[in-house]
Amino acid sequence: MLTENDTARRPEPSPAGAPKPVQNDDLTCYFEGAFVPMRDAKVSIMTHAFMYGTAVFEGIRAYWNPDQRVLNGLKIREHVERLRLNARMLLMDDLPSVDELTGLIIETVRRNDFHEDVYIRPSFYKSSRQIGVRLHHLEHELYIVALPFGNYIDTESGVRLMSSSWRRNADEAIPARGKIVGGYVNMAFQKSEAELNGFDEALVMTPDGNASEASAANLFIVRDGTIVTPPVTDDILEGVTRRAVIEIAGNEGIPVAVRSIDRSELYVADECFLCGTGVQVSPVVGIDHRAIGSGEIGPIARLVRDRYFDAVRGRLAEYRHWLTPIGEAG
Ligand SMILES: Cc1ncc(COP(=O)(O)O)c(C=O)c1O
Repeated sequence: MLTENDTARRPEPSPAGAPKPVQNDDLTCYFEGAFVPMRDAKVSIMTHAFMYGTAVFEGIRAYWNPDQRVLNGLKIREHVERLRLNARMLLMDDLPSVDELTGLIIETVRRNDFHEDVYIRPSFYKSSRQIGVRLHHLEHELYIVALPFGNYIDTESGVRLMSSSWRRNADEAIPARGKIVGGYVNMAFQKSEAELNGFDEALVMTPDGNASEASAANLFIVRDGTIVTPPVTDDILEGVTRRAVIEIAGNEGIPVAVRSIDRSELYVADECFLCGTGVQVSPVVGIDHRAIGSGEIGPIARLVRDRYFDAVRGRLAEYRHWLTPIGEAG
């Protein structure tokens, strides 16, 4: 049952009248069955998920629409469905239904009364305080946090990729489609290698050497007017945004091919872009010190990106079904 401890509201105005900046600790989160201030959401260092990374999570965005004074949660249901499937992969049963989870996510966001773009992270984690590497016979719990969040990567000027020397964790090692917390150490190696070498993002290959995805984003290239993206069997996260991009391409009459992509195909591609909840739609203009296409953002990447941003901001009726309005707190 939920207990209500709704103490973390917008901060009191300072004596001068200006609101103090919100600290994460002041935000309300959902933690182990109750809404509590983030500062009170604490786990033991013995928590299994802390010791072994045995947790699954989702990253969901909500976009503030100033005209309608509403936050629009983006594809919440799809994320919730993926979260539940992934939790079952980690042998977690007795999960809240899709409707219950969706309701908890919306309520967490609503209680914070955000008037800006937000990142929402629900996570099921192994909460038993036990030593012992395994998945079975362990308790699990749920948390949901929601934070103000802007761009994760520059979507305007074009991203530069570096082919990573790290391979994507293969399905037979840590399921790539699982969005498993421990697996993200793999992405951390990729992202840091790319950034410390002066690039924006990593292009990560499967153990077989096919292009898989970026460190936290799915990959698309354009060749002769066709959008190409690797199949879900090439060790990718089955991205919610990837499906959204394929829907946009269909509506725009742009052919889509789902097939494996060689590393060198990026060198000869006309265009390239990344997509994901974090990166949104980010055109790529270079890889490994080579320009992709003209070295400028290509027309198809630009079109997909612009449609995507119009859609998530609630400006396109045909994509309204992606959005769940989250009204202001009463
Ligand atoms: C490894 C990885 N690939 C792809 C994506 C994109 O998935 P989605 O569009 O569901 O956010 C993410 C998450 O953002 C990710 O972490």
